Amino acid sequence: MFKKWLKRVLIGLGVVFVLLQLVPQDRENPPVTLDIGAPPAVDAVLRRSCYDCHSNEVRWPWYAYVAPASFLVTQDVADARYVLNLSEWDTYDEGLQISLIEDIVDHAEEGVMPPEQYTLVHRDAVLSEADVDVLRQWARDLEEADLDDR
Ligand code: HEC
Repeated sequence: MFKKWLKRVLIGLGVVFVLLQLVPQDRENPPVTLDIGAPPAVDAVLRRSCYDCHSNEVRWPWYAYVAPASFLVTQDVADARYVLNLSEWDTYDEGLQISLIEDIVDHAEEGVMPPEQYTLVHRDAVLSEADVDVLRQWARDLEEADLDDR
């Protein structure tokens, strides 16, 4: 009796799993319209730790192809691109670019980015103190260059 019941539940779960795979998901990388174009040291940090969500150059991991894990990944990338897309830098005016760069440094300093659910799997994406310094110095250099312009 119990065995029969268990078998039905397992088959039911199997069917749900297969059907979930059929739900269409956006796993595209749209064209890069304008990369933020940070200097090489900064670029390396951003690409290693941020581009998998905040860019149009996402390296989709294998679990991005397996529902339901894939829903979390595609949603994260959609949300991340919506607030900050390093591949569509031309869509922000100068004021917004400056405030986004400040946000990048703040989030890195506070250790809230990259998010924990990501660094659990991608250990190499964890920012070191040196990485945070690179970002901090970059923001400072930009600020100085901006003041020189005036
Ligand atoms: C696993 C995906 C992922 C990675 C990797 C990631 N982020 Fe995010 N980030 C998000 C998501 C999702 C949001 C928006 C929702 C939120 O605030 O939690 C976000 C929000 C932000 C914001 C807030 C923007 C705003 O205007 O509110 C900044 C700044 C940011 N991230 C910077 C970074 C930086 C810098 C890195 C790399 C060091 C990084 N993120 C890596 C997913 C990611």
